[in-house]
Amino acid sequence: CGIIGCAGRGDETLDVLLDGLEGLEYRGYDSAGVALSNGSLSVCKREGEIRRLQQAVTGDLVGPVGIGHTRWSTHGPPSDANAHPHTDCAGDVAVVHNGIVENYADLRAELADRGHDFDSDTDTEVVPHLIEEELADGATFEEAFRAAVARLEGSYALAAVSSGSEAILATRHDSPLVVGVGDDAAYIASDVPAFLDYTDRVVYLEDGEFARLESGSWTVSDADGRLLDKSVSRVEWDAEETAKSGYDHYMLKEIHEQPRALRKCLRGRVDELTGAVDVEALDGLNPSSVQFVACGTSYHAALHGASALREAGVHAQAFLASEYATAPAPVTDDTLVVGITQSGETADTLSALREARKRGVETLAMTNVVGSTAARECDRALFIRAGPEIGVAATKTFSSQVVAANLLSASLAPQSDAREVVEALRDLPGQVQEVLDSSRAERVAEQFLDSEGYFFVGRGYHHPVALEGALKLKEITYKHAEGFPAGELKHGPLALVTEETPVFALVTGNGTEATKTVGNVKEVEARDAPVVTVTDGVSDVERYADAVLEIPETHPRVAPVLANVQLQLVAYHVAKKLGRSIDKPRNLAKSVTVE
Ligand code: G6P
Repeated sequence: CGIIGCAGRGDETLDVLLDGLEGLEYRGYDSAGVALSNGSLSVCKREGEIRRLQQAVTGDLVGPVGIGHTRWSTHGPPSDANAHPHTDCAGDVAVVHNGIVENYADLRAELADRGHDFDSDTDTEVVPHLIEEELADGATFEEAFRAAVARLEGSYALAAVSSGSEAILATRHDSPLVVGVGDDAAYIASDVPAFLDYTDRVVYLEDGEFARLESGSWTVSDADGRLLDKSVSRVEWDAEETAKSGYDHYMLKEIHEQPRALRKCLRGRVDELTGAVDVEALDGLNPSSVQFVACGTSYHAALHGASALREAGVHAQAFLASEYATAPAPVTDDTLVVGITQSGETADTLSALREARKRGVETLAMTNVVGSTAARECDRALFIRAGPEIGVAATKTFSSQVVAANLLSASLAPQSDAREVVEALRDLPGQVQEVLDSSRAERVAEQFLDSEGYFFVGRGYHHPVALEGALKLKEITYKHAEGFPAGELKHGPLALVTEETPVFALVTGNGTEATKTVGNVKEVEARDAPVVTVTDGVSDVERYADAVLEIPETHPRVAPVLANVQLQLVAYHVAKKLGRSIDKPRNLAKSVTVE
């Protein structure tokens, strides 16, 4: 879900809110709404994409302050009624919320007993009703807001407006909120792109802090109401980076941004002459074991990172963050827990990192977002510097995470062992560009557009990419796709392989792994399944392939990034030919702030 609020933009408030919601749509988008206060409150909300809200808004939505929300359902299906903002009985208070109010059922029962009627199935709706009761008892809007928040359990980023006030009040607990500081206006949002068109100066709120925005001014205070002296920082991203810049989709733009993103990830971290890795965030780090925690695409980067570290002689494992706390793996004093998270806000990953901190071990956030919760809560933060990623399906951030994971392993390995990988990393941006310039992925997409299902296989470092290739395809095409370690194919999945199911095989070099994967390809071919190989042409796998996607030769640790670019393009072109909603696939959100 996404939150935007703005104070001080006069007649432009509604436009600012709608623009902000467009900038946030990637966080979730099954419904959206706005509320503006102008002595009285006007609210408009609609199920569906922001465009439906834009069509529905009318001229009475005016006021110096307003809040908006784009929703990804957790409680109650997408509908006009369940869309935010939610209001109290009298329609004098409007609230937008990210997260989950865990004690909402008790609060709702209590409020209903006292005569409150509810319009929605959401957990959020209890909040405006709690505020309403406090206001009725004579509290000011701010007192009422604080008293209501004190009743909540769970995670929340909240913003509220009221007909009796020209202020926006906001607070957070386990869900991000950031204040945007403009010249004459102030903004509040769950994520910077919501107001990046207007300002790049930001103040990050911590859990338990309260923001008050009035026309052009802002303050932040603690839970007891004491004003805090918060520092204003500048975000490095600019509005151009969050625009589509002539590409049909953000996803395609972001795929094409990979060479630049990778150069940025490496800049100043690798010595051009010696190949030595020098990353400030990793200074003095010498863990005896490393545990990665991550979700989705980031988990695939974590699998890569764990293999790279094991090769460097460090005990390393990758865990799905949502599973980390179940039967936790043993740690010692010098275990390092690394959370890989593009957004730095994924609830499952944050919760695993918090679990690690509770166990007393050092934590490192490997993230794309400076100022994100993961970056601020962990002992160390290694920024992947990919620039803003708007498409829900992660692309450039995966490549940058893999490179960052290799910087981590190179900084822990003896320099002589790391040299070859580092040299290959330096050539990687140029090689990604070669793949982008020459890829035949669109033709392959056309060739296999009508297939029943798609399988992806690879061994060793290609295993995470097999998983990632399948995830990308299912996320944006809605076609069935599965990835396997190539050796596992014969232990079950082979039963599903038919002439209707192309198998994408990742084969580079001609070592043992390549030879064995070629063997698996032959097994597939014998069952009449079409084979698409992603290869550097070193082995003879092309002999068994119906289609070939070529990548340049490189170090085995780096080849998966190149192979993955081809698979990103296949998924993109299949989705495009099927007319799918590529940047905003159904049911998915870019950053999932609930567990
Ligand atoms: C969501 C997104 C995925 C992403 C995952 C982890 O599920 O749809 O694309 O990989 O979250 O996100 P993170 O920000 O933690 O990397």
